[in-house]
Amino acid sequence: MQKNILPIIKNGVQQRRYAQIIGWGKSLPSKILTNKDLELILDTNDEWIKSRSGINQRHIVGPKESTSTLAIRASKEALKIADISPRSIDLIICATDTPDYLFPATACLIQDALGASKAGAFDIEIGCCGFIYALSIANSYIISGIYQNILVVAAESMSKVIDWSDRSTAVLFGDGAAAVIIQATEKPTGLVSFVLGADGSGADLLIMPGGGSRNPTSIETVENRMHYLKMSGTEVYKFAINAMIKATKEALLKANMTIDEIDLMIPHQANNRIIENAIKSLNIEREKVFLNLEHVGNTSSAAVAIALVEAIESGKIKTGYNIILVAFGAGLSWASAILRWGISPVVPSLPWWKSIQYRYRRLRAKLRSFFKRIRRRIGSLFTLD
Ligand SMILES: CC(C)(COP(=O)(O)OP(=O)(O)OC[C@H]1O[C@@H](n2cnc3c(N)ncnc32)[C@H](O)[C@@H]1OP(=O)(O)O)[C@@H](O)C(=O)NCCC(=O)NCCS
Repeated sequence: MQKNILPIIKNGVQQRRYAQIIGWGKSLPSKILTNKDLELILDTNDEWIKSRSGINQRHIVGPKESTSTLAIRASKEALKIADISPRSIDLIICATDTPDYLFPATACLIQDALGASKAGAFDIEIGCCGFIYALSIANSYIISGIYQNILVVAAESMSKVIDWSDRSTAVLFGDGAAAVIIQATEKPTGLVSFVLGADGSGADLLIMPGGGSRNPTSIETVENRMHYLKMSGTEVYKFAINAMIKATKEALLKANMTIDEIDLMIPHQANNRIIENAIKSLNIEREKVFLNLEHVGNTSSAAVAIALVEAIESGKIKTGYNIILVAFGAGLSWASAILRWGISPVVPSLPWWKSIQYRYRRLRAKLRSFFKRIRRRIGSLFTLD
């Protein structure tokens, strides 16, 4: 049974709870598709893609990979860095637009693979803003005292919903995942403020029209290629710049901070030109903005998460840093969050016996899942009265 955690009490005084990131990990498929590769299958060229978007290459899942396999790999990394057992995870939130199935939730597949036997699990689907929305949910569960440890993972296999004959979208997206473990602490760190926004009047501007309850999959929806992502690029472009500026300003206002107090900005990695326009208007120094879209492309909900992990790994984040995350996307939607970094981003090397412990945990999770399936099969042989 899940334990609901009571407020932290010290000397009879209830301490305020904060939610800090204590582990992180990412997973990018090994297959890389460069702009030059795209020239062979589409009427496009490296120069156009680079100059219009800033993207040089993207990672693409292989036939045996899916959103859950990427998410599981990233989550295992995050658990290792956090150095906690999967069984101490209270909740798993997976942000994705490309779940393995319409149902069950991809978060449940992750829960099973990790052996997170005490965790609740659900997906959220809010386009490229998914990771920031999920962080805000995790933050709320933790500061309210409901949960102690939450896994937030954002994962996408965009290549599975891309129309590879549509040059205006195929060149922009890529696959990948990143995960963070968030834990309750008394240290004033974690989310300082966040902003969530939506404007469904622009729903048709970035949409996968087929396969849902509005247009269930049929020969007609497939023939009309409705199971692929459709985007009005120019409209989204205009919306994106304003959304980034507005969401950043609102998060600063809520946190009572100025842009000068921000040490690092991690924007949604969709298009260099959108980012350049927004940062010019926000008056934030270029060196404070982290970019990785050149080698990852737009990985939708996973983009800000992967960039956060890469910023940590490349030494761009230091203890005490104020980091602003900002995203926009399908919905239309936008989100931002100011994150105060609490722990040392330097990962100490693990003692030898830890790797044995991790292997044991993985094996235990596999066996547990296997025997549960067997037990269910045997149970199904006996009819109920
Ligand atoms: C998609 C995007 C890069 C297109 O850039 P743009 O400068 O607006 O380009 P346009 O759509 O006006 O197209 C200009 C020309 O390039 C062509 N073109 C489009 N894609 C092309 C490609 N991959 N290669 C070569 N030419 C291409 C168009 O057909 C058009 O040709 P035309 O003038 O002969 O009609 C840009 O609109 C964009 O980034 N939009 C936001 C997308 C986004 O961020 N989506 C994710 C949200 S989460």
